[in-house]
Amino acid sequence: MVKSAQITIDGKTFEFPVVEGTEHELAIDIGKLRAQTGVITLDPGFKNTGSTSSAITFLNGEEGILRYRGYSIEDLAEKSTFLEVAYLLIYGELPSKSEFDKFKEDIKYHTLVHEDIKTILTGFPSNAHPMGVLSSLVTSLTAFYPESLDPNRSREGVDLSIARIIAKLPTFAAWSYKNQKGQPVVYPRNELEYVPNFLRMMFALPTEDYEVNPVVARALDQLLILHADHEQNCSTSTVRIVGSSQASLFASISAGINALWGPLHGGANQAVIEMLENIRKDGGDTKKWMDKAKDKNDPFRLMGFGHRVYKNFDPRARILKKAADDVLESLGVVDPVLDIAKGLEEVALSDEYFIERKLYPNVDFYSGIIYRALGIPVDMFTVMFALGRLPGWIAQWKEMRESGEPIGRPRQVYIGHPARDYTPIDKR
Ligand code: ACO
Repeated sequence: MVKSAQITIDGKTFEFPVVEGTEHELAIDIGKLRAQTGVITLDPGFKNTGSTSSAITFLNGEEGILRYRGYSIEDLAEKSTFLEVAYLLIYGELPSKSEFDKFKEDIKYHTLVHEDIKTILTGFPSNAHPMGVLSSLVTSLTAFYPESLDPNRSREGVDLSIARIIAKLPTFAAWSYKNQKGQPVVYPRNELEYVPNFLRMMFALPTEDYEVNPVVARALDQLLILHADHEQNCSTSTVRIVGSSQASLFASISAGINALWGPLHGGANQAVIEMLENIRKDGGDTKKWMDKAKDKNDPFRLMGFGHRVYKNFDPRARILKKAADDVLESLGVVDPVLDIAKGLEEVALSDEYFIERKLYPNVDFYSGIIYRALGIPVDMFTVMFALGRLPGWIAQWKEMRESGEPIGRPRQVYIGHPARDYTPIDKR
């Protein structure tokens, strides 16, 4: 059915097409709005603005649905692996066995990084936040692979950059942690699978043998799947907008890492565990902290709660709440903050303030508790999120390039001074 929308400005009516997605989402196409009417739309935070059409991830916040390329997140988290999900997101379909073997082989082959990268790494003070180190090392890849700067290179060339960044990000992540600890870096071992290889680079020491615990490896693999894409969020939109200037894949991903870092986005997982620890040290009075979260004169927010899009439940949080119980039990870990988290959730779900505003636990509420049980230090939590989100960023960058999207350049409503004359400094 052809649909259209009318906009009336000062008594004059203009008609615009309405586009419909495969899940029947409707959007008014205002591409010609300014040309026809002379006005623009104003939407701070892009709360109502679709920046693109995308075939990668479907999300319905009212019903708590998340699908990658049509497959439900629940199915993928239970039955798939992170690298298979990465292939699915980037190339659009689940791989055949031979396609998947080649993809994994390409990634294994590129896990090693140039020795000079170690010089860059050791130049960082040991207290550097690993997210800053990670984004810098990703940017440094543009210097080691200058041919990657051309975004219009062949398909094989783009695939090579994709394999390189997927292969090297775990090495960078683990090395940024080693640098912080003052320990020697551990080189990748290509006989290991993706996640076990990462865990070994993180935790192995030259003084003792290191065996990867399969429970830890599976739990981390599942966490990475749950974070792999989330359509046009802050970091993904950043990747697309940076890439739209024809900046390279590595430069665009580095920008995405920085966008993810903030506590209102990927940095929330670190903020949640710090908040839970503070509540524990303060005596565990959840009501007191709930009251702080509701007090408009108090800047405190319940971290890990609320979401721009999910207004019913976050399906990833549901999976993780159960995973937190399972993982802690299999590893024999007792973490008092898990009970505090569950207590907070229970109070929040029956509190008018949270019900009215449709605030529910998001993916970050339970993920930190699992990371901690796996032995991942708190300031590496957001790095874990970046490892997981990488395939999504790549897929979105690739889709944006292949569909020939124009450079991203929003407009504004200017509210500053009207034109005025310059006054020399001695006359002011
Ligand atoms: N605690 C207390 N109140 C909250 C919270 C919270 N965590 N989140 C939202 N609210 C309140 C706001 O104060 C506002 O109240 P008001 O209408 O009385 O002014 C209302 O709920 C709507 O909140 P907004 O900030 O307008 O919602 P927005 O969509 O802009 O923000 C966000 C979403 C950033 C996720 C927000 O809920 C938040 O700050 N949560 C905590 C941080 C967090 O967990 N971030 C991770 C998000 S998931 C991710 O990025 C992977």
